[in-house]
Amino acid sequence: MYIKKGYFGQYGGRFVPETLMPALKELERAFLRVKFDKEFLDEFESLLKDYVGRPTPLYFAGRLTEYLSGAKIYLKREDLAHTGAHKINNALGQALLAKRVMKKERIIAETGAGQHGVATATGAALVGLACDIYMGTEDIRRQQLNVFRMNLLGAKVIPVDTGSKTLKDAINESLRDWTKNVRTTHYVLGTVFGPHPYPLLVRFFQSVIGKEAKKQILKKEGRLPSLLIACVGGGSNSIGLFSEFLDDNDVQMTGVEAGGKGIETGLHAARFASGNKGVFQGCLSYVLENDDGNILKTHSVSAGLDYASVGPEHAYLRDTGRVKYTHVTDDEALEAFELLSSLEGIIPALESAHAVAEAIKVAPKMSKDSIIIVNLSGRGDKDVQEVARIKGISI
Ligand SMILES: Cc1ncc(COP(=O)(O)O)c(C=O)c1O
Repeated sequence: MYIKKGYFGQYGGRFVPETLMPALKELERAFLRVKFDKEFLDEFESLLKDYVGRPTPLYFAGRLTEYLSGAKIYLKREDLAHTGAHKINNALGQALLAKRVMKKERIIAETGAGQHGVATATGAALVGLACDIYMGTEDIRRQQLNVFRMNLLGAKVIPVDTGSKTLKDAINESLRDWTKNVRTTHYVLGTVFGPHPYPLLVRFFQSVIGKEAKKQILKKEGRLPSLLIACVGGGSNSIGLFSEFLDDNDVQMTGVEAGGKGIETGLHAARFASGNKGVFQGCLSYVLENDDGNILKTHSVSAGLDYASVGPEHAYLRDTGRVKYTHVTDDEALEAFELLSSLEGIIPALESAHAVAEAIKVAPKMSKDSIIIVNLSGRGDKDVQEVARIKGISI
């Protein structure tokens, strides 16, 4: 097994100020305790079923398959999970952990696209915890609908107006808050990133995606898929899907990063295309930085992929070649957004549209008996206003 003491090969670790060490150790102990705690896992599973609406369907996208005239395409419908994205699996798990096991009074979270913020606010409301969400002002502008939802759910959204005013700045503020309030507060990190044990903890709560998908495809097709495709922001929906198939050597996997306006423009968030190894926000992974080690500004049409680093397990999987990483541009994602909407009646999140765009590229080159599973990480309701704005349409 390549996961050892908080490291994935050479990546990962726990690079934080001393003040956070006790909180991370407390979280690690809580996680190790509940991993095999039947009572906790039963409650979590029952909430996933009756509250989140799991298992989410594995849908055969017949019209898209016919249109592309190659591999059969299935969509893992995380967009149908309560609150509209895979983020709820992890947020609910951590809210439960904070309340039941760590006895905290308050949770905080960072959010980019707003989906993790909405999911955390939902978890807080469900278990009865106070909740503050940090969000960059650029993301607040792009994701107004989710800001309103978080407020409705009883959470306070705290604007972050520093740096690029996006996800990385929101994470900085969350870490700052957590340092001050560790005794009463749990920080619900939204992806497989940050200091140990977060990458493992979030992987654990998201692995339900892959477990379900494997069962479902075996039932529908009687065999494993040829290829899995998922978008990679911090990397949680992709690890959630991939983790269950990593030992199935015939199953190929592709993680799709945000190519933004093109790698050559510098306006992107493709860490593997032009980043290098570095420590950022608590762990060693790939990061977009300049020669002086300053974090570069990133860009993506999708707020959830617009991040300068990537989960350490992805760095490991990339180096070993087990997962291939690629990127698609804003324009390609926007085309996929419209194509899936008009062909299948499913409006994907702009993040998920990156995964769909990759399927559109590769499916026609694959044989008709190949099977692709695309992780549809979330629904596009949150993005329609931004897409209309980009198209110059006022609604
Ligand atoms: C719908 C959706 N998909 C994907 C992502 C990217 O996150 P991750 O790579 O952790 O799945 C986000 C993040 O906000 C999201 O909202």
